[in-house]
Amino acid sequence: MTSDVLRGYADSSAELIPRFEAISSADLFKPVADILPGTPSRVADIGAGTGRDAAWFAQQGHDVLAVEPVDALRLAGMERHRSSKIRWLNDRLPALSLLRREPPFDLLIVNAVWQHLDDAERRIAVSVLADMTGAGGLLILSLRHGIGAPNRPVHAVRAEDTLDLAATVGFRLLRQQKTESMQPGNRAAGVYWTWLALRMS
Ligand SMILES: C[S@@+](CC[C@H](N)C(=O)[O-])C[C@H]1O[C@@H](n2cnc3c(N)ncnc32)[C@H](O)[C@@H]1O
Repeated sequence: MTSDVLRGYADSSAELIPRFEAISSADLFKPVADILPGTPSRVADIGAGTGRDAAWFAQQGHDVLAVEPVDALRLAGMERHRSSKIRWLNDRLPALSLLRREPPFDLLIVNAVWQHLDDAERRIAVSVLADMTGAGGLLILSLRHGIGAPNRPVHAVRAEDTLDLAATVGFRLLRQQKTESMQPGNRAAGVYWTWLALRMS
């Protein structure tokens, strides 16, 4: 259940904040770097954590809406990444009821979040994400494969199922790339990732 996951992130926030911040966004986004928007764009980072990636996109001139439901992570991000180009929103998948009031975005990022949604939530979420992606816009999803932390439940995810689901709401595949985990502990536990870049037709 989403509330269990969010409680797990809140309970572990002191440990997770430095771990999230230690990751290089430039390294993380290498699988899709060449297809990211090259001109200032509207970006939403959903499940933004501490806003590490939001800040990286803002530094490149984009206007970023960082969506993060866990207070401890969102407040840490607001404190660390002060920028006039980042707005923060307390909202959550799958409904994204506040984000839905915004005009569509050029780029939506859902990085390391999809594993926390079950199949029913994914079906709702993908349709909301489609509504929030402008024509020709891009959705970047990173899918986590492998076991999760005991206090942050995960559901198995297959790239093929995600692509099938995304196709039903008008996304087409631009890029699919498997990567190893950047965090040594996760890598040792056999965690790996699939990056998907999807274009809204
Ligand atoms: C593994 S962390 C990744 C954070 C950030 N994207 C990054 O790469 O550092 C997962 C994030 O998703 C958030 N999250 C979990 N369930 C969510 C939901 N249903 N809607 C939005 N965010 C969620 C968590 O609070 C956490 O910040």
